[in-house]
Amino acid sequence: MILGIETSCDETSVALLDRDGSVKVNLIASQIERHQPFGGVVPEIASREHLQHLFPLVERALVDASAQWSDVDSIAVTSGPGLIGALLVGVAGAQGLAYGLGVPIVPVNHLEGHIYSPYLSKEGAAVPLPERFLSLVISGGHSAIYDVRGADVVQINRTRDDAIGETFDKVAKFIGLPYPGGPQVEKHGRAGNADRKRFPLPVPQFSKEQSLDFSYSGIKAGAIRLAREHHIHIDGDAQALADFCATFQDALAAQLFDRLDQVWARLEGTKPGEVAMAGGVAANGVIRERMQAWGEQRGVIVRLPEKRYCTDNAAMIAFAGLQKGNAGDPRRVVARSRVG
Ligand code: KG4
Ligand code: ZN
Repeated sequence: MILGIETSCDETSVALLDRDGSVKVNLIASQIERHQPFGGVVPEIASREHLQHLFPLVERALVDASAQWSDVDSIAVTSGPGLIGALLVGVAGAQGLAYGLGVPIVPVNHLEGHIYSPYLSKEGAAVPLPERFLSLVISGGHSAIYDVRGADVVQINRTRDDAIGETFDKVAKFIGLPYPGGPQVEKHGRAGNADRKRFPLPVPQFSKEQSLDFSYSGIKAGAIRLAREHHIHIDGDAQALADFCATFQDALAAQLFDRLDQVWARLEGTKPGEVAMAGGVAANGVIRERMQAWGEQRGVIVRLPEKRYCTDNAAMIAFAGLQKGNAGDPRRVVARSRVG
């Protein structure tokens, strides 16, 4: 089995996967409640929480999977990007375990964890990876599209400023919704109607350089200004809040699909047969539905991760480790907050 460890942000997670990618156990100790009073993740608190939870979770994972230490033949650990103090807990923990067990470590880029996550299956072996797929990573820290062929990941675009999840979170915080804001905006938006005339949030275009990049800081600033003007707040008019949330979410999605359309149109030669969406924001029901419809219109297979594999988890890290298959000397694993 491969043991996966994820501690890059505010979830301590440990997973055990068979070599065919079946998830035996995927445990997540979420720290959301510890960070909620501060409206966002406090790095020092995150590191301390990881320290407290990591080893008990590893022990529980073995018990839950009815496995022995001797069943673990390699360890996959998130080595970056992320909060450096948080990453160090996972990496140092993995190194200690690797020495003790005499097994190698695969360092995994957190984004690659998200990229392959739509191929994790609920029960049994993972869905076989296609030769090539387009990956949309939409999370709290990243918004980017990748062209993926096996272990070869080529980034096509990125966000120039805020990530889509960060935008959900910051605007949600402004209108008094608790952290993390994405699921809250979705929840309140369900009772509302999107109206981009009442709340004008355009899709930004970079026509001059024909750039395919995302940019969410304009929507963030615009949404905050509109919320102020229309007195949108958790303690205010519930219908206005619902309509605002629906419109804001619609505007974020509009930009996502605008860029996906442009990337798709510009892909040269044969296009990939599959588009896979991943990351915390891929848990959003409205965005999932739009993604499905996008694929149906074009005859493209759409892969959506199960919701539990959208937000940070160690199953996706172990699975990416299996794809990479470059397990090596634990001494060579280094935590890096930014990965180029
Ligand atoms: O992938 P993730 O757990 O962490 C990063 O690697 O960044 O993503 C967390 C982000 C947060 O910004 C959160 O608000 C967002 O995912 N998120 C959602 C939903 N669930 C989580 N955003 C919109 N709708 C959701 N249902
Ligand atoms: Zn993530």
